Amino acid sequence: MHKKIVLLPGDGIGSEVIHSAKDVLNAIAKEFNHSFEFETHLIGGAAVDTVGTPLPDTTVKACQEADAILLGAVGGPKWDQFPSDLRPEKGLLGIRKALDLFANLRPIKGFPTLLHASPLKEEVVTGSDLLIVRELTGGLYFGTPSERRDNNQSVVDTLSYTRKEIERIIEKAFQSAQLRRGHLTSVDKANVLESSKLWREIVEETKANYPDVKVEHLLVDAAAMKLITNPTSFDVLVTENMFGDILSDEASVLTGSLGMLPSASIREDGVGLYEPVHGSAPDIAGQGIANPLAMVLSSALMLRHSFGLNKEANRIEEAVEHVLERGYHTRDLHILNGMVVGTSEMTKLVVEFI
Ligand code: NAI
Ligand code: MG
Repeated sequence: MHKKIVLLPGDGIGSEVIHSAKDVLNAIAKEFNHSFEFETHLIGGAAVDTVGTPLPDTTVKACQEADAILLGAVGGPKWDQFPSDLRPEKGLLGIRKALDLFANLRPIKGFPTLLHASPLKEEVVTGSDLLIVRELTGGLYFGTPSERRDNNQSVVDTLSYTRKEIERIIEKAFQSAQLRRGHLTSVDKANVLESSKLWREIVEETKANYPDVKVEHLLVDAAAMKLITNPTSFDVLVTENMFGDILSDEASVLTGSLGMLPSASIREDGVGLYEPVHGSAPDIAGQGIANPLAMVLSSALMLRHSFGLNKEANRIEEAVEHVLERGYHTRDLHILNGMVVGTSEMTKLVVEFI
């Protein structure tokens, strides 16, 4: 299989961990006889510094022509005081919008070796393995009007969706559930919100096409509680943009570390942008100690969701699990009697297993 992959290193540790993903993908290409062609482009603060804009047209064009995109991270204190058009985050929001990446997938899986690193009780998190499917380009974060009124005496935000926007994210969630354990939890606030009522109706309509998927509806407040009291009861969880933003941060504590969490943002034709959940970590940038595993696991998601390469994706995830089981970890993780390694050594260990 031949694929063209755009690399957007971005800022801080983004540009360090992106090399790890490239090394791992090259190892996969060699082992499974694929050819991955890489092209690197500017985004975020690095782009502001070099060409004066966080999202150069050349970057957008390259991404539009790519089969998939890998992004490191953007941002840092250096650009905090810049005007809003020159903020690194503009680059990230801009590329998601330009590519219409409406589905954000966040798999959350507790690696056995890291269970004690979670603030939750080991017996509660053991066996948790869920996928959050968050709507990413609609809902409360994009609805209009969103404005102050009457000289700050009132304010309005709008939660709006079209039927089509809800249908495509629900469809994606059903498909994901079918590929996993066949259990879908749709999270809404249908006892209060009109948008949630339509959301629930569409889930019920779509259900008929997926007889092998078991569907459950949960109100978002109850879901928030259940995520930490009974995380193993979830397989795929689908929800609106803001609910998903909040619940996915909550669920991230199940795994014990930010440095382990990958994410995928995809659209209907399968093109996607894959990135770690963490940011540019300016406090440790340039020291060679960043945990590359969230980025490496993001590249596994790319193989699975954009290219349909399940065996190859599994191999990367097994490699990560294996390396952790042998006790190797970067400084951000805590493994009893483990050995601390840097970014490049961790990458080499994963590549060796592949
Ligand atoms: P952060 O995720 O960059 O860092 C939070 C803490 O976790 C830091 O102590 C950092 O050292 C540590 N950390 C994060 N990733 C790590 C890794 N792979 N290995 C080891 N340690 C790791 O979040 P923070 O500090 O709030 O934001 C820093 C910058 O990143 C800001 O400019 C922020 O806007 C940006 N950011 C960008 C994101 C993106 O590009 N998607 C997402 C979140 C933040
Ligand atoms: Mg968030």
